[in-house]
Amino acid sequence: MQRTLGIIKPDAVAGNLVGKILAHIEVAGLSVEALRMVQLTEEQARGFYQVHQHRPFFKSLLAFMTSGPCVVMVLKGDDAIERYRALMGATDPAKAATNTIRALHATDVEKNAVHGSDGPDTAAQEIAFFRAALSRWA
Ligand code: CDP
Ligand code: MG
Repeated sequence: MQRTLGIIKPDAVAGNLVGKILAHIEVAGLSVEALRMVQLTEEQARGFYQVHQHRPFFKSLLAFMTSGPCVVMVLKGDDAIERYRALMGATDPAKAATNTIRALHATDVEKNAVHGSDGPDTAAQEIAFFRAALSRWA
C-alpha cells in the first residue's frame, strides 16, 4: 500500500473535468483517501513547486497554478505512485500515451490537467506539505 499526492489543476477544474478525472483514477483501482478544493496562494504554489524555481517556466507556472481553484488529493493503492504517473501520461500531452488523463484532457505542456508525485520521497514531502498548508481536508 502506497500513497501519492495528486492535483487536478485549475485548467481541468475550469473545464468541468473533475468528475471525469476522479472516475479515471477510481476505475483504475486507486482510492481517494483525502480530497480538498483550494485556490493556492502564490506562496503555496511557490513552496510546492520550489524544485522548479530556476526553470524558465516557473513564473508562468505560478500564475497558472494560482489562477483558479484546484483539487488536491491523496491517492492510495498498491504501487500508487507509479500507477498514477502512468494514468497521467507524459508532462507534454502531445507526447502522452493514448487514453492517459493528459492525452485526453490537457491543453499544453503547462496546462496539463493534473499533478502527481514522481517518487516515494516527493510523495511523502508533498503530502506533508498539504497536510501542513490545509488544516482540515479529509
Ligand atoms: O508534472 P510533471 O512531473 O509531469 O512535470 P515537471 O517536469 O515536474 O513540471 C512540473 C509542471 O511544470 C508541469 O506539470 C507543467 O505544468 C509545468 N511545465 C511547464 O510549464 N513547462 C515545461 N516545459 C515543463 C513543465
Ligand atoms: Mg514533477
